[in-house]
Amino acid sequence: MKALCWEGVNKLSVEQVPDPELRGDQDVIVRLVAGTTCGSDLHLIGGYIPAMRAGDVIGHEFLGEVVEVGSAVRKHKVGDRVVVCSFVGCGRCWYCANDLWSLCDNTNTNPGIGEAMFGAATGGIFGYSHAMGGLRGSHAEYVRVPFADYGAFKVPEGVDDTSALFVSDSVPTGWMGADLAGVKPGDVVAVWGCGAVGQMAARAAMLLGAERVISIDRLPERLEMTERHIGSEVIDYTATDVEAELRERTGGRGPDVCIEAVGMEAHGDTPMHVYDQVKQQLRLQTDRPTAVRQAIRACRKGGTVFVLGVFGGAVDKFPLGAVVNKGLTLRGAQMHGQRYIPMLLDRVAAGELGTSHLATHSVSLDEAPRAYEMFKKKTDGCVRAVIRPGG
Ligand SMILES: NC(=O)c1ccc[n+]([C@@H]2O[C@H](COP(=O)([O-])OP(=O)(O)OC[C@H]3O[C@@H](n4cnc5c(N)ncnc54)[C@H](O)[C@@H]3O)[C@@H](O)[C@H]2O)c1
Ligand SMILES: [Zn+2]
Ligand SMILES: [Zn+2]
Repeated sequence: MKALCWEGVNKLSVEQVPDPELRGDQDVIVRLVAGTTCGSDLHLIGGYIPAMRAGDVIGHEFLGEVVEVGSAVRKHKVGDRVVVCSFVGCGRCWYCANDLWSLCDNTNTNPGIGEAMFGAATGGIFGYSHAMGGLRGSHAEYVRVPFADYGAFKVPEGVDDTSALFVSDSVPTGWMGADLAGVKPGDVVAVWGCGAVGQMAARAAMLLGAERVISIDRLPERLEMTERHIGSEVIDYTATDVEAELRERTGGRGPDVCIEAVGMEAHGDTPMHVYDQVKQQLRLQTDRPTAVRQAIRACRKGGTVFVLGVFGGAVDKFPLGAVVNKGLTLRGAQMHGQRYIPMLLDRVAAGELGTSHLATHSVSLDEAPRAYEMFKKKTDGCVRAVIRPGG
């Protein structure tokens, strides 16, 4: 079959790879209907995530049709249209049992790297390096889905493929940020980043009762889209002093909850940011935490900062003093999608949660390298390019 392979830093190509086969009795094989570009893939493509090997198939946000079912699978049958959670959970370990699915102890077959970097490994995720399970990604004609009873979800009739697709990854990620940050009625919430993840975090904050939601980015088309489709207020960080503006809009106090949905490749123009960028290019530091720093500074005393953006290692010039002296709660997580996906599919079906506007482009698998180039450079208004291997 054809698949989109990582061949080296900033090098993707469509190659022939062997078809996947059932390996465990809880596996299903899914024929891809649609997959999409995610900001997390950019960190792989740019070489910021270790343990990629030439020929690895990328992609983790996807929807398709079940074509083969392992003997122990109970929930799925051939022909089901399913959206699949990007993180794989076994459903039985202590973490899965406690609804902390991305921390699953059984789905990352290479835990050594996570143990060395973080003290313990995350669960496995499709198409996201040998440090995170070495599972083959979804930008292919077919993909093997382990523990499918837990990670694959039947899409309700009446929800179209494009709307359901994003419930695989960006929608539950955004929802988790607002939920685990404890957004409650009356809160003012600021969200850094107007990609799919940031937009979905902003929408979740609203649905959880936030009184005001303020989204921050620099790309005019994304700011405009977020204002129109999500309904949040927006700030262009290149034209405004973000901290001063947030104080201004919150009676001088700052937002109750600050959600960072930017990640390790943040942009910026402060001297501290330039210093981070140089260190990152020289591989002296793994991440550029520009938006995290700003969120910590802007947050009101006693508020919560939630980091949804992906970070891989250690950062310096971290404003720990602000965390302690302002009494902040600082959290982060990879997405525990299994906990939210059924509820989110219901909300999409009910028309409460619009997602289809995120699909700014639609391409074939052969065009995927070009689509990633566009998504990386944020040209042509690209927010998510949907890759349709079946044409
Ligand atoms: N925690 C999880 O489980 C999980 C899941 C999916 C994605 N992610 C991460 O979420 C992040 C966002 O993903 P995405 O797909 O929306 O990415 P994206 O690349 O489409 O969007 C990132 C946005 O951040 C903006 N940005 C850059 N620097 C900024 C700054 N200093 N202040 C404000 N905005 C800034 C960019 O202009 C862009 O619009 C990535 O780091 C991705 O890896 C995490
Ligand atoms: Zn993702
Ligand atoms: Zn588990």
